[in-house]
Amino acid sequence: MGFSGFFSAAVMLVFFAGCFMAVPEVVAANHGGVTRHYKFSIRMKNITRLCRTKSIVAVNGKFPGPRVVAREGDRLVVKVVNHVSNNITIHWHGIKQLRSGWADGPAYITQCPIQRGQSYVYNFTITGQRGTLFWHAHFSWLRATVYGPLIILPRRNESYPFVKPYKEVPILFGEWFNSDPEAVINQSLQTGGGPNVSDAYTLNGLPGPLYNCSAKDTFKLKVKPGKTYLLRLINAALNDELFFRIANHSFTVVEADASYVKPFETDTLVIAPGQTTNVLLKTKSPAPHATFFMLAAPYFTGMGTFDNTTVAGILEYENPSSSSLKNAPLLKPVLPATNATNVVANFSNKFRSLATTKFPANVPQKVDKKFFFTVGLGTNPCPKNQTCQGPNGTKFAASMNNISFALPSTALLQSYFFSKSNGVFTTDFPDFPLHPFNYTGNPPNNTHVINGTTKVEVIPFNTSVEVVLQDTSILGAESHPLHLHGYNFYVIGQGFGNFDPKNDPPKFNLVDPVERNTIGVPSGGWVAIRFQADNPGVWLMHCHFDVHLSWGLRMAWIVLDGKLPNQKLLPPPSDLPKC
Ligand code: C2O
Repeated sequence: MGFSGFFSAAVMLVFFAGCFMAVPEVVAANHGGVTRHYKFSIRMKNITRLCRTKSIVAVNGKFPGPRVVAREGDRLVVKVVNHVSNNITIHWHGIKQLRSGWADGPAYITQCPIQRGQSYVYNFTITGQRGTLFWHAHFSWLRATVYGPLIILPRRNESYPFVKPYKEVPILFGEWFNSDPEAVINQSLQTGGGPNVSDAYTLNGLPGPLYNCSAKDTFKLKVKPGKTYLLRLINAALNDELFFRIANHSFTVVEADASYVKPFETDTLVIAPGQTTNVLLKTKSPAPHATFFMLAAPYFTGMGTFDNTTVAGILEYENPSSSSLKNAPLLKPVLPATNATNVVANFSNKFRSLATTKFPANVPQKVDKKFFFTVGLGTNPCPKNQTCQGPNGTKFAASMNNISFALPSTALLQSYFFSKSNGVFTTDFPDFPLHPFNYTGNPPNNTHVINGTTKVEVIPFNTSVEVVLQDTSILGAESHPLHLHGYNFYVIGQGFGNFDPKNDPPKFNLVDPVERNTIGVPSGGWVAIRFQADNPGVWLMHCHFDVHLSWGLRMAWIVLDGKLPNQKLLPPPSDLPKC
């Protein structure tokens, strides 16, 4: 069974049970939801793409990995068993993990990695979310092949706030490397140069016919005329934001990052790594005498190299007389220019929360604490007796407020929970840049970042937080998809140039801003977000480009326990891995 199978919401759970090894085995009811058990077996798998066979790290022998399906209110219990030599963790990207931070997954933040021969059970409840998310490895670059959909259906007896789709189809974008992605990032960290770019993008694991030796690896979406399909789009690519378009068709966007949005029409979609979007695709009627390319290609404004190729799938109408498509034209959409920042900004500005009584936008109206974080690239000096391949013989780095995050060798959540922060982290992450400069103007001469201790930002339970994320032009202005663990945030404003603390806040949208877990900081611009820190724990915030993540574009929040018993982080499970 490939990823081209279709299913309707009603029969989906049955469908999954029948087709996948990771079978949701329903056990006991809890608070109106049920408990669903999955098993993830991490093993090497041989796979051929672009005429090369290689061995990849995979879950249950699948690439992309198995779908995890649940309903809002359900509990998920996923036993992950590691049979490979790499350390690994799994992150449930976008799940709020209320008081269950131990199940979040980022290595050395909420847990030590699962070592070969060991296992760990991720146990969490899905509260107040429904839509499309994904799961992925959160150790080094293993996400390149270890990812899959995480589909949250509405509670039983509840429906979508839009027309019931005829079928639902996950569309996962990925990035394919002919070499081992672990070798790619390790070499980059060694030499200080930019990592080799990927060799292809993939759509549901398939690069499609625009690459050499790849025509047989093409995702085909077979549709009936005059129906509404729900496409669950997931960008699991490592380092690239993507434009997506289907020739002669348009979409209605209805959800982002598992939150409903006010529906809007568009023919071009933009999706950053870490983002998910549900769109409705209404097929034409009668069936047109043509087939249609669905294409995705990168949006990029930085200075380095990038994978400038195009992944293609095919949209094909089912036709009673199969011969009639023989001479039908194959139509190709025109994607925006690679650096079309205006298209990205227009698209991003269209997102609004649904903001109904049932699905309100609970955006904090007053702010307890304001933060201003720069995000961008920088350098580290080249160690003595080495030649480095980064800018002017330095090593590439990345930072927030010029702090390049030092990953500890033991999990932050553990050392915090057991009050053993000594020597593991310090609580002096700066609220504002220590040395302000013209962030989007000519970059400063000194581009070195600060390394050293692991610095975290500590905030009391239920603090109402505002963060302005400001891109810098150091080594090239670039869009950075910033992701926050443990929360959704509201995107209350964005703009180009430097954030203006006087004239920009009056324009903030405090009525129906979109609620997301990942937002692109505009290239050469800023974005303002707000969230209510009501989930105690240690929460990573980072650029979802794995290359920037590896270079240090990340930081961590510690949200303290509240006074009430239900405002405290729960103790760790007994099988929590040791470092
Ligand atoms: Cu999807 Cu910390 O990541």
